[in-house]
Amino acid sequence: DQQIRKQMRDAHRVVAELYHEVLMKTEAGDVGLTYLTNRGLHEETIAAYKIGYAPDQRRFTVDSLERRGFDLEVMVEAGLISKSRAGEYFDRFEGRVVFPIADRDGTIVGFSGRSIDERNPKYVNTSDTPLFNKSELLFGFPQARATMRKQKRVFLVEGNVDVLQVAQAGTKEVVASLGTAFSSGHARALARMVDEVIVCYDGDHAGQEATLKVVRLLETYPLDVQVLLLPEKTDPDDYIRTNGTEQWQRFVDSERLSVLDFMNRTLRRGKNLNREGERIRFIESMLEEISKSDNSIRRDLYVKKLADEFEIPVNTLLSRMPATGKKEQ
Ligand code: CTP
Ligand code: MN
Ligand code: MN
Ligand code: MN
Ligand code: MN
Repeated sequence: DQQIRKQMRDAHRVVAELYHEVLMKTEAGDVGLTYLTNRGLHEETIAAYKIGYAPDQRRFTVDSLERRGFDLEVMVEAGLISKSRAGEYFDRFEGRVVFPIADRDGTIVGFSGRSIDERNPKYVNTSDTPLFNKSELLFGFPQARATMRKQKRVFLVEGNVDVLQVAQAGTKEVVASLGTAFSSGHARALARMVDEVIVCYDGDHAGQEATLKVVRLLETYPLDVQVLLLPEKTDPDDYIRTNGTEQWQRFVDSERLSVLDFMNRTLRRGKNLNREGERIRFIESMLEEISKSDNSIRRDLYVKKLADEFEIPVNTLLSRMPATGKKEQ
């Protein structure tokens, strides 16, 4: 078992190396490099994250692994290649740009492959294997580590390309959960390293729904959680490519919302606050969110803000506020 895991790790290192070489140094990789360059990514960034390209060949990876003496059954189990029902081995990331996913120590344990043509699905990811557990891994963690420790903060984004763009724009402390499945394992790992998490998911509806979940999860840890609300239909990659690095940095510095401000905006959405029933429900849900804040000054400020906006006495709101759950800091 230990030996099998070692073989899997070795194979990932070899394959990541190969894909990266293909991308940077061969003609077969030109389409991949062109794709990444067109997306505004520099070679330095590509190298730092060891991005690669899996040649558009049915057995490139299979043959490379076999030639090096790896057990192909183990390679299937590791998610590096696939096996047809007829028992034929074939490549899994064929014709895709590949993002290696490493654990906290920088050991590569899986890949995320993005299609660069009309090929579906858009992303093929390693599924859970003996090495790869999605709920514990964050793309970009090893690269972000030193800066995270120094700055005591981290940016959380949705996508791999978002990580690359944000890092390239100078914010090196950035990681992505794989898909939108951010777990308590992720939160715990981040809470051990930083004091501050800035959630910067996509500006679409799915991204905002996911933000709500992530924020609630992060808030159960001793972290200062903030939200960077992107324009509709925009993700960090889009934002940086459209507006440039400097505007991104200004945006990051000036547009961060506290959790309560984010909740305020989100809970308002789709409600007609001129209607009494909806207004009451909005106020009640805000009071519930306020009660979760672990800072009594912030709680008071927010209750005052609501009281002013809706012209309700502070004491009425306070009397309706659920008991505060958290201990004071
Ligand atoms: N994702 C996935 N499978 C999909 C769609 C998304 O695994 N079919 C994951 C990928 O890790 C992706 C992340 O969810 O990076 C966010 O999804 P999305 O916003 O749709 O993709 P982007 O990262 O914006 O991808 P791109 O900019 O390359 O289109
Ligand atoms: Mn998205
Ligand atoms: Mn706190
Ligand atoms: Mn996106
Ligand atoms: Mn994108």
